[in-house]
Amino acid sequence: MNIKEEIKNLVYQVLEGYVEKENIVIENPKDRKMGDYALPCFTYAKAMHKSPLAIAEDIKNVLNSELFEKVEVVNGYVNVFINKKLLTKEVINQIIDHNSNFGNSNIGEGKTIVIDYSSPNIAKPFGVGHLRSTVIGNALRNICEKNGYKVISINYLGDWGTQFGKLVYAYKKWGNEEAVRKNPIDELKRLYVKFHEEAENDPSLDDEGRKAFKMLEDKDPESLRIWKWFSEESIKEFNKTYDLLGINNFDSWQGESFYNDKMDRVVEELENKNLLEESEGAMIVKLDGDISPALIKRSDGATLYITRDLAAAIYRKENYQFDEALYVVGNEQTLHFNQLKQVLTKLDYDWSKDVHHIPFGMILQNGKKMSTRQGKSVKLHDVLVEAISLANKYIDERNSSIPDKENISHKIGVGAVIFNDLKNYRTNDIEFNLEDILKFEGETGPYIQYTYARIISLLNNRNNQAVNFDNVNINEYQWYLIFKLYQFKDTVIASKVNYDPSLIAKYLIDIAQDFNKWYASEKFIDEAKEETEARLLVAYATSIILKEGMRLLGIEALNKM
Ligand code: ARG
Repeated sequence: MNIKEEIKNLVYQVLEGYVEKENIVIENPKDRKMGDYALPCFTYAKAMHKSPLAIAEDIKNVLNSELFEKVEVVNGYVNVFINKKLLTKEVINQIIDHNSNFGNSNIGEGKTIVIDYSSPNIAKPFGVGHLRSTVIGNALRNICEKNGYKVISINYLGDWGTQFGKLVYAYKKWGNEEAVRKNPIDELKRLYVKFHEEAENDPSLDDEGRKAFKMLEDKDPESLRIWKWFSEESIKEFNKTYDLLGINNFDSWQGESFYNDKMDRVVEELENKNLLEESEGAMIVKLDGDISPALIKRSDGATLYITRDLAAAIYRKENYQFDEALYVVGNEQTLHFNQLKQVLTKLDYDWSKDVHHIPFGMILQNGKKMSTRQGKSVKLHDVLVEAISLANKYIDERNSSIPDKENISHKIGVGAVIFNDLKNYRTNDIEFNLEDILKFEGETGPYIQYTYARIISLLNNRNNQAVNFDNVNINEYQWYLIFKLYQFKDTVIASKVNYDPSLIAKYLIDIAQDFNKWYASEKFIDEAKEETEARLLVAYATSIILKEGMRLLGIEALNKM
């Protein structure tokens, strides 16, 4: 049942000729007592030469269907109250029938989306900076799939560029195999830092670094061997973090290096289209507006980040025939993606319009960029381990004899970190405070998980008797919850359209709060058998939505906690 569609069809009788059917605005009133849906009529007044009030009255008159319990005109708004029994029957039965498939949409049927996310850099720690990309990208993947899209997820490892020349050089000069084997990321980081320290006094080192990268690009076997080994060691480390997060289902791990032999073609295409210009020995593409030129080749012939991204975009289009390509990367790379899009447009690729940078804000601690006491970037692995151990402590305080405590603490700790990341609008900066995000009350992951577990334990009281919702009373709070449950599909679609998992996270907070308010508002399990059973059915439907919503975000539901 699509009530909004139904309303639009009816209202169109009044508004035809003045507004497209799909543009008719239907809002959710802030104050739920005002109705389930509200239609503002101000915007139509001018075109229709009528007062909003008169239009509202006309609309009220056509909204006459058993779907609505009551329709009211208030200050140029039409407030619609849904027939509670009718919708309750329909929604609760549908949720229970379809289970986790409830809320699936087909807006993506036959379409392919490529999502580039996580994409950490080889030989560097997997920092909290990459947490957001990983978590948002993973949620978008699930959300797009739920909307019927075919998704290709790509972990575009940062495994190419001048820094690897420097690293190979530094390793040959100051490194040793044993140390890298023992502690790859830290040791490689040390070598990289050492290179830069030495280069301060000896600028010729920079040249050596560039030469070493040129050797890599020219496929010198010894350089390649060392680079490949660094890469493998790094991936092993990354996998430990992915395993903790429970996110490790990339369809492709083709990183920047994969495009080493695919860039010549791009450079040639740029040349043929007369887009390449020389500037101080380097090759650039000038761009329109106030966007600075894209640097395609350095004066020594070495390629750059954007050169590889151009090759990758073209490769992905040819290989996957995507309808959309998403890049889940922080706000700070906005210029880069503007450049990428514009160069593709200049190359006459009409699909450049389907390339979208999905930016996000930073993770802050006390308002500042998160860092260790020594001012270094914080390793995501350490943060997750700490979250898990704090969750473990909280569980001990609440219920120390709970079976499977390790697993539960893990799911709570990681779920808290993920939820905190996803609950704010994507582009906002987020504040990270371990104690706050692990609270069992408030807008947290544990609060959602806890509400779910609470419902699961309630469900033991079910007696599996058939329920006819016509015979039972639906209390006000119960109705708010049911109407919210009904809106799951709308939320799933909106989170795809806006590329924003926070819509689902906020929705889950609403559901959990609505459930808890309802639960507190009446005696839940009482002598009236059918009433009790009806409440438990609604609770069961709520648990299905909470679980599926958490799954979309990458959070596991727990039956006990
Ligand atoms: N490795 C890059 C970084 O850490 C992110 C890569 C994003 N994806 C892309 N296609 N450029 O900054």
